[in-house]
Amino acid sequence: MASIAQNDIQQRALQAGIDLEQLPRHIAIIMDGNGRFATGQGLKRLWGHTQGYMTLRDVLLDSAKLGIEYLTVYAFSAENWRRPEDEVKGLMKLIEEAARRETKGLIENNVRANTIGRIDEVPESLQNALSEMKAKTSGNTGIVFTLAINYGGRAEITDAVRKLVESGTPSDQINEEAISRAMYDPSLPEPDLMIRTAGELRWSNFLIWQAAYSELFVTDVTWPEFGADQLIEAVVQYQKRTRKFGGLA
Ligand code: IPE
Ligand code: IPE
Ligand code: MG
Repeated sequence: MASIAQNDIQQRALQAGIDLEQLPRHIAIIMDGNGRFATGQGLKRLWGHTQGYMTLRDVLLDSAKLGIEYLTVYAFSAENWRRPEDEVKGLMKLIEEAARRETKGLIENNVRANTIGRIDEVPESLQNALSEMKAKTSGNTGIVFTLAINYGGRAEITDAVRKLVESGTPSDQINEEAISRAMYDPSLPEPDLMIRTAGELRWSNFLIWQAAYSELFVTDVTWPEFGADQLIEAVVQYQKRTRKFGGLA
């Protein structure tokens, strides 16, 4: 059955040869290169992060319109505390202001906002903004948008093991399913497609448990420069892959 395009981005996707019935259900993005984008123009790193926020607004809406069910983005890693204090503070403030400013638009666009990471360790005012954003969008039925904040894959696995031990799980019941169920948000399906901007060929500790069989797409374009063209290109590449999960095609 031929897909009927509903909107601009679907129209563009069809023109690029994308099968709208075979989209990745869950896309995860390592939004990297904000700093390089800024310093390359002689500007401050924090300015680059603000530009990155503008990109995220567009990519979230495009993903929703395309028909992606889950979008998960790496906003601040558990290792990013190693950066200079003013950059860390600036990022926390940017995320907080964005959460407050965007909640209304998220509701209008039927986006359900979500978070993963050690949220209890971020500044309290940010925690409050995030809980408010989640609560106000919890009834939405469209794309599930997950912000990974103070997130580390090893921290998540460590926290999962602690949870299992604390709940008295007997060792013969500790298996891959049990560990998956103990992750920060077990309702999220594993990412089908993992995108990294700015060219680095590494995981940087993002979703290392869940991305075991994700398809990877790395672009040299920095995050502030990323847009619908690159999103479409990533999905085109994804649809050319043969996923085997260790078996045979
Ligand atoms: C990614 O951009 C955003 C965060 C880590 C918060 P970077 O800040 O890592 O940008 P580069 O890698 O220094 O260019
Ligand atoms: C990964 O980018 C973290 C986020 C995008 C939030 P980094 O810039 O922190 O990763 P490394 O340090 O290059 O591995
Ligand atoms: Mg970086």
